[in-house]
Amino acid sequence: MKNSILKNMKKLENKSTLVTGAASGMGKAIALLFAQEGALLVLSDVHGIEVEQVAQEIRSQGGHALALACDVSKEDEVKQLIEAALQTYGSLDILVNNAGIMDDFTPLDKVTDALWEKILSVNVNGPFYASRLAIAAMLQQGKGVIINIASIGGIAGARAGLAYTTSKHALIGMSKNIGFMYAQKGIRCNAIAPGGVNTNIMKNAHPDAEGAALCSSGSGSMPRMGESEEIAKVALFLASEDSSFVNGETLVADGGWLAY
Ligand SMILES: NC(=O)c1ccc[n+]([C@@H]2O[C@H](COP(=O)([O-])OP(=O)(O)OC[C@H]3O[C@@H](n4cnc5c(N)ncnc54)[C@H](O)[C@@H]3O)[C@@H](O)[C@H]2O)c1
Repeated sequence: MKNSILKNMKKLENKSTLVTGAASGMGKAIALLFAQEGALLVLSDVHGIEVEQVAQEIRSQGGHALALACDVSKEDEVKQLIEAALQTYGSLDILVNNAGIMDDFTPLDKVTDALWEKILSVNVNGPFYASRLAIAAMLQQGKGVIINIASIGGIAGARAGLAYTTSKHALIGMSKNIGFMYAQKGIRCNAIAPGGVNTNIMKNAHPDAEGAALCSSGSGSMPRMGESEEIAKVALFLASEDSSFVNGETLVADGGWLAY
């Protein structure tokens, strides 16, 4: 009896869910939480071995997770990913565009074409390719949820460098546009804007001294760093029916940093 009550409480039971950048940080935390809530997962990351380990962890606990290596900046790889989700589970109910990279706080005058293209291709083109391919399936199904992991760097002007700031502002705009355009077709699209969260995103960073110093001048107003699991809970809200009337929104999860 107790088990059946718990089973009924799962918020994403049998929801086919694709998470990009699921080998680390927030993407991994989202994958683990969504698995607990009954989601059928396709996990992807540019780091194929690491994302397979996350999928194995989920399967070892009785969950459903397929792992695939995929660079979201490459449309052909994203296409294979969406097709794999559809072939494996027969639908695509939830897409979490989480994969993203930082830009070392580089100000405009030092942004090379290579840096600009690298950041924009992962942080903007990736969600664009995945959402465009997913929406076709979602329109056929008459339902679907897209969640874009943006940043408070997509709202404020000095949490990162020029390229990252531009990319996350673009992602928030993309989320609003998708949210409104498909609102009457059973599809919702929202963004999450995390503040500083303890992940691996700065692991191999080489911060631009000037840009980092300027951006960190406001970091004293940050109440605290967040944890990936705290962002995963926000993603669960947006993925589930609990947020059925929330669409085109950007949900800030930053412990109050932007409130200053
Ligand atoms: N950590 C923060 O403080 C913070 C704050 C706001 C927003 N974000 C955003 O959160 C998202 C997740 O980042 P995180 O902090 O968990 O970082 P993370 O580095 O721990 O995880 C990001 C994952 O994305 C993968 N990835 C990178 N480029 C990829 C690509 N081209 N294709 C597929 N996968 C790729 C990485 O391999 C990694 O596993 C990002 O979009 C990031 O911009 C992070």
